[in-house]
Amino acid sequence: MIVVTTVQEYENLEREGVIGFVPTMGALHSGHISLVERCRRECDTVVASIFVNPTQFNDPKDLERYPRTLEADVQMLAQAGVDVVFAPTVEQIYPEPDTRVFDFGDIERVMEGACRPGHFNGVAQVVSRLFEIVKPDKAYFGEKDYQQLAIIRLMTEQLGVGVEIVGCRIVRHTDGLALSSRNMLLNKEQRAAAPEIYKAISAAATNMKDGTVQEIEQWVQEEIDKNSLLKCEYVTVADAADLQAVRAGSVRHLFVAVRCGEIRLIDNIAI
Ligand code: PAJ
Repeated sequence: MIVVTTVQEYENLEREGVIGFVPTMGALHSGHISLVERCRRECDTVVASIFVNPTQFNDPKDLERYPRTLEADVQMLAQAGVDVVFAPTVEQIYPEPDTRVFDFGDIERVMEGACRPGHFNGVAQVVSRLFEIVKPDKAYFGEKDYQQLAIIRLMTEQLGVGVEIVGCRIVRHTDGLALSSRNMLLNKEQRAAAPEIYKAISAAATNMKDGTVQEIEQWVQEEIDKNSLLKCEYVTVADAADLQAVRAGSVRHLFVAVRCGEIRLIDNIAI
C-alpha cells in the first residue's frame, strides 16, 4: 500500500484497470471498511482518501473536535487491501478558496440540508475535487448518509464525470447503533442511550408499515425523546428516491437526526 499526500505524487502513480474509490474523513471504523471491502471485490485498484474537509462543517466546533487518527486509519486500510491512500492537506485540495455554488434543488433544502446550511455544498466541492484528482471509475458511499449519497448521485450526473456511484448498506453495532466516527465522542451514559435511536426507528419500520406519516413521525419522536439524554432534531418520513414529501406510489423512508449532548447522530431505515 502506498500513502501519498500530494496531487503530483498521486498523478505519478501507475494505476491499473478499474479504479475504485472510497472517500472518507478518517477516524475509520468497520462501516468505512465495509465500503473498502466491497470496492476491493469489485475493482482492480482501490484508492481511499482521508481528508477532513473544512468546507462541509457549518459548525467550527464540530470541525475542531472531529476525531483524527491517521496512523490507525492507515493500518486499517492496509489490512483491508487498499492500494493507495490519498491523505492530502487543505492546500492540496483547495490551492485557492473554492467559491463554487452547486444547485441541487429541493433535495438539499430538507433534513441535513435544512439543519446544516452549506454542508452539502461543501461535500459537493470536496467530492468533485477528489473525483477530478483520483479519476475513479466507481466510488463507494454509505447509506448511513443517505441524503449525501442521493446528492452525490445528482452531482455526478450534473457534472457528467462518468463515475459510477455505489451505495452500501449501513453497518451497525450489535446493539443497533449505526457506526459513526462521532460515536467515539460520546461519554459512557450517552453511548448507552444512543441505541434507543435504532430501537425506535426499527420498531416503527416493523410495526407501523400501515401508519400515516404523521403517526410514524410522532411515535418515533416520542420514543426517542423519552430518554433524557436524547433530543430529536427532526424525524421525517420521506420519499426514498427524492427525499420529498410522501405521495401516492412513494417508497417511504424514515430519517432521524438526534442530539446527544453536543454530538449529533443521524440514522435512517426503509419502512
Ligand atoms: P465519513 O463520515 O468519513 O464517511 C465516509 C463514508 O463512510 C461515507 O460514504 C459514509 O456514508 C460511510 N459510512 C459511515 N458510517 C457508516 C456505516 N455505519 N455504515 C456504512 N457506511 C458508513 O461522509 C463523509 O465522510 C464525507 O462527507 C465525505 C463523503 C468523505 C466528503 O468529505
